[in-house]
Amino acid sequence: MKNIISIDQCINGFRKNIISVDGDKSLSIRFILLSSLSSGKCIATNLLKSEDVISAVRNIKKLGIKVKLKDKSCEVFGKGLHGYKFTDNLVLNAGNSGTTARLICSVLIDSSKWIKVTGDKSLKKRDMQRIIEPLKLFGVKFKNNNKTLPILLKGSNLLKPIKFTEKLGSAQCKSAVMIAALKTKGKTKLKCLPSRNHTELMFKNILKIPMNIRKNKNYEFIEIDGLKKFKPFNYKIPGDISSASFFIVLTLLARKSSLTVKNVNINPTRTGIINVLNMMGSKIKFLNKRNYKGEKISDIYIKSNKNLKGINLSPKLNSAAIDEFLLIFLIASICKGVSTFKNLGELNKKESKRLDWGIKILKMMGIKVKKINSNGLKIWGQPNLKLKKKFVIKDYLKDHRIFMMSTIAALSLGGNWKIHDTNSFKTSFPGFLRILKSLGAKIK
Ligand code: S3P
Repeated sequence: MKNIISIDQCINGFRKNIISVDGDKSLSIRFILLSSLSSGKCIATNLLKSEDVISAVRNIKKLGIKVKLKDKSCEVFGKGLHGYKFTDNLVLNAGNSGTTARLICSVLIDSSKWIKVTGDKSLKKRDMQRIIEPLKLFGVKFKNNNKTLPILLKGSNLLKPIKFTEKLGSAQCKSAVMIAALKTKGKTKLKCLPSRNHTELMFKNILKIPMNIRKNKNYEFIEIDGLKKFKPFNYKIPGDISSASFFIVLTLLARKSSLTVKNVNINPTRTGIINVLNMMGSKIKFLNKRNYKGEKISDIYIKSNKNLKGINLSPKLNSAAIDEFLLIFLIASICKGVSTFKNLGELNKKESKRLDWGIKILKMMGIKVKKINSNGLKIWGQPNLKLKKKFVIKDYLKDHRIFMMSTIAALSLGGNWKIHDTNSFKTSFPGFLRILKSLGAKIK
């Protein structure tokens, strides 16, 4: 495939379509890492086969774990909590995946050899200090003082449980501590700002790990006991709401269209985008709601609606929409009135500086945008926005969400777009272009 797409035609009038999006990325990576620590064969169906998940698979194979990737399923042959076997001078490469890089360090805390962990150009710019700090408390050694990849680490056989406060609202950091805690003897106590809770749900409902969770207005308190082993498990991975969001926003912005996205994970720690869009007036519905191993699943129904109004979003709602802000900015740009967002500093620490990129793309579209208090944003919407100009999107560190957000903008607002680095969407959502084309999108 050539590495640039052109779009000069909007998509409209798709009706009563039913689609399914690829499996959830957070759950897929957690499945791979946790199953490698179980004491036997685990099977996942609908595992996301994206580059980020394949990075996780490649790395646990290097740790001596057998993995069979089949068409519809994935089998991982866990070797227990302390069962990895690997060569000297091992190098693990997490590619573009922050979740893989941060969580893989946590499964290495008992390694008896030095291991190097690295990643691609974008991942090498991302903060690793957030997991280095707690892992050092467990007893892990780090050779260089880098706060970014590559890092060199060596585990310990004298691991001790820790007390740690997580101050960023990072699920990757929280999960790294939780997974590391399994390998220690004793109780790890974690105080953290709210973030997605998939690890907690898997620990409690699938792995049956002894733990205690409390919440107050601002923090979550998690206590976990170390273990000797846990049983193998199977998991049917639901659709990823972050992937579904591109189609939800496309349908809202297109004319005379409606769509059902089947089997999406609607865990409340992930549905911030739906709350935001419904606050703006979108009337998105959850149909056929059910529970699966602690996660909530549903079909999502959306129809066209450009009659949306700007909002002033409470930062308390940021974490449940953390990966969807580029889309939220896009929608805010056609809302009636002004939208305000605050405390979005973490967005600039993602695969690219997403807050800055959001501002850049909106400005290119002729939208009035202003950065407030260094990490907040005010957007003056233009309800009748119709783009006519030429747009070129490139040099964005191949951030999959920038590629996909730009594609949705091009297909719904007009203009003549050239979007570089086509392959970037494959890190999280390999089905993206195929599903768009099935709805009638003209993409060259
Ligand atoms: C993820 C957590 C989020 C999110 C990322 C996946 C996870 O990052 O942005 O895409 O699977 O735990 P944080 O660690 O900042 O919460």
